[in-house]
Amino acid sequence: MPTNQGSVEQTCFFSCKRNKTQMGSCCYIPSPSSSHLLATDFFSWGFKSSKLPFLQKRRFDRSQRASKICGYYGLRTPPYKLDALEPYMSLKTLEIHWGGHHRNYVEGLNKQLEKNDILYGFTMDELVKVTYNNGNPLPEFNNAAQVWNHDFFWESMQPGGGDMPKLGVLQQIEKDFGSFTNFREKFVEAALTLFGSGWVWLVLKKEERRLAVIKTSNSTCPLVWDDIPIISLDMWEHAYYLDYKNDKGKYVNVFMNHLVSWNVAMARMARAEAFVNLGEPKIPIA
Ligand SMILES: [Fe+2]
Repeated sequence: MPTNQGSVEQTCFFSCKRNKTQMGSCCYIPSPSSSHLLATDFFSWGFKSSKLPFLQKRRFDRSQRASKICGYYGLRTPPYKLDALEPYMSLKTLEIHWGGHHRNYVEGLNKQLEKNDILYGFTMDELVKVTYNNGNPLPEFNNAAQVWNHDFFWESMQPGGGDMPKLGVLQQIEKDFGSFTNFREKFVEAALTLFGSGWVWLVLKKEERRLAVIKTSNSTCPLVWDDIPIISLDMWEHAYYLDYKNDKGKYVNVFMNHLVSWNVAMARMARAEAFVNLGEPKIPIA
């Protein structure tokens, strides 16, 4: 079980379905807002993955032309060791949740994309929006959204997290919810009243220019409504059952007290403010 800290293994490739020796590798471009931004590198042969069956080191034959192009996504590791959230989220939970469920979403998505080259070349953010298809989701949507959701969720936590947000995030929460206590109550209530499996989010609503707590069912993610996610909490049973059995209240409170990363929330808010003006417009006067 890999436990490398803060690393990302991202691979994709293009291939000819008639001849799988026609293959190159892609390079990963780290992006703070997108988990999977991929760009082809036609002059680099080597790439690594122990999981995807097609990702074996092969030579690219320039004399042959590719007839079909497929994009593949890698399983991104959480930005901490798998036991780093102990005792609040156990190593066993991370091994099963990240190493099992999250991995299955990635592999399921890659299998689907193999059959649909129309969906080649999107970042994960784009793929989620495109496969949502304006409310008539394509078959790839569930896996794509769950890959995105889980990448976002791991990064919404940190060892030594919890407590109170600071500076701008705290000010915006106080402005939009009245107080941090009010926000916290809304977030916990949303988690506990979510029917079935799903997610709870703190999002920045672009049009209303305010923060809001929302909940989504199954794999749905707020990107599809053009909200900007700031924090998420996985409320699927696989996220908490090993550690908390059916005590969802304890799980949610532990998340708020010890796991949520307000540092990450602060960085996400700072980026979001490039797209949403949370104050009065300040237009320079010539
Ligand atoms: Fe999950």
